[in-house]
Amino acid sequence: MPKKTYIASAPSNIALIKYRGKKDAKLQVPANESLSMTLSNCMSITACSVQTNQESGDSILIENQLQPFDHKIYSFIRLAKEAFGMTESLKITSMNTFPQSCGIASSASGYAALTLAICGLSFGAKSIEEIQSKGWSMERLSQLARMGSGSACRSLLPGFVHWQLEQENNQQKVISLKSRLNVVDIIAVVDSSEKKISSSAGHLNAWTSPLFSTRLAGIEEKIAQLTNAIQVDDFRTIGRIAEHDALEMHSVMMSQTPGCFYMTKKSQEIMAWVRQDLRQKNNLPAYFTLDAGPNVHVLCLEQDQKTILEKLRIKFPELKLVIADHKGEGPSLKSKDLEYDDLDLQRELKAFISQTKPHARLDL
Ligand code: DP6
Repeated sequence: MPKKTYIASAPSNIALIKYRGKKDAKLQVPANESLSMTLSNCMSITACSVQTNQESGDSILIENQLQPFDHKIYSFIRLAKEAFGMTESLKITSMNTFPQSCGIASSASGYAALTLAICGLSFGAKSIEEIQSKGWSMERLSQLARMGSGSACRSLLPGFVHWQLEQENNQQKVISLKSRLNVVDIIAVVDSSEKKISSSAGHLNAWTSPLFSTRLAGIEEKIAQLTNAIQVDDFRTIGRIAEHDALEMHSVMMSQTPGCFYMTKKSQEIMAWVRQDLRQKNNLPAYFTLDAGPNVHVLCLEQDQKTILEKLRIKFPELKLVIADHKGEGPSLKSKDLEYDDLDLQRELKAFISQTKPHARLDL
């Protein structure tokens, strides 16, 4: 009887209105609602199977690195197994199509793919439809993924995703908003090294910023405006709100104690170029946003992608990596009858990665 491996992929997402600060870190209750765009090519691919040697416990390799046993990911694996009623030890391997820990949310795609892969294995399900027929909608799965990393809950749904929060009772849910807009996210990778401050640590200190209460007071109105702009396909308003929100979040980060400074000189040069060159001089609808990192995401419409990439290449020839991604359709799941050792599995995952669209990574 061949062993079965369940392979899930989940994309990263870029928040247009950011999640910043937690009301309850243990229960993963965010301080505010957020709204993101699920990407397509920037994704995590995670394979999960039952360990041959059950004595060895759970193991997870991320980008070929065995995660140390005190890593918080193991408590999440235990939590997920409990939710699906599994007791076996698991063998998990995960890879990303993009650089890890650099402000492109690998924790979002990583925990979303991990949740789906464990769920697939526990039900012996070969597709998302099969999982849904067992009563696990993507909305329900997202409640679990959120416990690994908050932003992961938005990666299980397609398109624009609103992570909602009822302030009175802390009830949360995620919903996908319909839009015909083909939005592109051009990620100028300024620095792909590990983040110095983890986003979890940064969230906890948000409350020390004198600007944080002002930010929270304006979120509801901003979410309403963004939702409306998405519904009427008004890209300029979407971009304007996203850019403003990124600057607001970074102001909170910089003014909290201890302060978190993520932007570099290069990030600021690219941000100024988006405003002055692309928008003011060329009247191109292009807007920037940044997560907890120095890399600048330039949001634009598909029809302007080529022009903007070309202008970026001419203006910033020193950038080694630019990733052009776009609004995507969410996660996928498949199963394989594999008699494998680790090498076979790596090959399988690499084949999955090579199927991503050719413009996913552009080494300029
Ligand atoms: C700046 O989801 O990584 O990217 O819940 O502690 O894992 P944890 O935080 P995480 O925070 C993401 C913060 C952000 C903004 C966002 O994606 O909304």
